[in-house]
Amino acid sequence: MEIKKVGVLGCGLMGSGIAQTAASAGFETIVREVSDDLINKGFAGIEKSLAKFAEKGAITAEQQKATRDRLSGTTSFDDMADCDIIIEAIIENIEQKRSTYEQLDRICKPETIFASNTSSISITEMMTATSPQRQQRFVGLHFFNPVPLMKLVEVVRTILTDEQIYEQAIEFGKKLGKVPVRAGDRTGFIVNRLLVPYMLDAIRTLEEGVGSIVDIDTSMKLGLGYPMGPFTLGDFVGLDTTYYIAEIMFNEFREKRFAPPPLLKRMVMAGLYGRKSGRGFYDYADPKNPTPMKLV
Ligand code: CAA
Repeated sequence: MEIKKVGVLGCGLMGSGIAQTAASAGFETIVREVSDDLINKGFAGIEKSLAKFAEKGAITAEQQKATRDRLSGTTSFDDMADCDIIIEAIIENIEQKRSTYEQLDRICKPETIFASNTSSISITEMMTATSPQRQQRFVGLHFFNPVPLMKLVEVVRTILTDEQIYEQAIEFGKKLGKVPVRAGDRTGFIVNRLLVPYMLDAIRTLEEGVGSIVDIDTSMKLGLGYPMGPFTLGDFVGLDTTYYIAEIMFNEFREKRFAPPPLLKRMVMAGLYGRKSGRGFYDYADPKNPTPMKLV
């Protein structure tokens, strides 16, 4: 079966980025959200991103229009029935994900491949919400923020994923213009397995007074050539998300390098989620000139 029609569940930051990427790569793409408001919000982000690419000359006005024309939104699961692949990017909540997959398993054609963009929940645990036939057609497709710019996709297999389906998922990743890497279904896959302890260690380094927020960020940027220091990156990813992923990884591996430090927990309890809430390790009152917060 050739993949022609792509379904995306969720039109938030990741879902809209995935939908934009699929439509830009020439796939007919339908996005499902719980309300028209959320669809409109996600599509406005896509418009903005396409406009940036057009401004830079990375895409033509025709490509911009063609991408838009390949995209549609819906609030109904029924409209996803004939999709060849469904990529789920809804909230990181296992119960909600399982219930979504359970419903879609009944609605979608038997050939539809199910994929999840989860960063930390076990693909196997989601997969078991579906029928045995579908379980062989279940993979992880983990993209990175901002999806239209970041070249990597982790393609995750479970012990039940069919070999041909897995190879098809890898090929699909390439067709999206990404570089696929193969990863097993272990919490955090490859990137977060390495990234999360690094980010948590940066917070411990701050708590211990080894360096300031700005100096630690500058060190990792200029000393190692990282595009963002760990605190800028944490604010960008979302500190609530980082905390949540760390908790899941700590529960899975029971290793203290995955344990969220008290400062991170306090910041999340206080509503300091990073860019999206206006404050995290930095205050974004002036978004072009973030100032470090006094936290320790
Ligand atoms: N669409 C289109 N263009 C975009 C864009 C988008 N969504 N976002 C940024 N751009 C463009 C900007 O307009 C800018 O264009 P010009 O160069 O023509 O001005 C260009 O990209 C660079 O953007 P900025 O100047 O704003 O900033 P930058 O040079 O720092 O690049 C970045 C931005 C690509 C995000 C870069 O900082 C970066 O690579 N950061 C690291 C991101 C990262 O690590 N992501 C992974 C997070 S982890 C994750 O997602 C997974 C998980 O499970 C937690």
